[in-house]
Amino acid sequence: MRTQYVGLDISTEMFSQTAARLEGNPQALFLQGSVEKVPLPDNSVDAVICIGVIEYLPQNVTALAEIHRILKKPGLAIVSFPSLRFPMLFVRAILRPILGPVLRTVIPGCAARLRVWN
Ligand SMILES: C[S@@+](CC[C@H](N)C(=O)[O-])C[C@H]1O[C@@H](n2cnc3c(N)ncnc32)[C@H](O)[C@@H]1O
Repeated sequence: MRTQYVGLDISTEMFSQTAARLEGNPQALFLQGSVEKVPLPDNSVDAVICIGVIEYLPQNVTALAEIHRILKKPGLAIVSFPSLRFPMLFVRAILRPILGPVLRTVIPGCAARLRVWN
């Protein structure tokens, strides 16, 4: 049996781009939705990888409960979020407000990315 991969993103732009890239791949399915209400049944996946998403949520309990709900038991969850020692936190908090407007002027495509992830 071939491994099946399911991806999920709440953003219409990210969903469209990724779904287009994966079109025609029989092993991959990309859905639009929230990690706080995952459109998958209970105990349906072997592993979840959730990288760089939790920190955008107002609270993380619902998302973590959803990840637990869809995981087979035992299952594997890899969830990342920045710690205070993570250098990108400094970049995001201090440098982005300064660099953001400059980058938006110089690189037009950058504006959309900064908006989606803010
Ligand atoms: C920093 S990017 C990380 C993307 C990818 N996980 C990676 O590591 O490259 C954060 C992504 O989380 C998505 N996102 C934000 N809130 C979400 C939610 N509630 N459910 C699903 N995706 C969400 C954003 O649309 C964005 O594409």
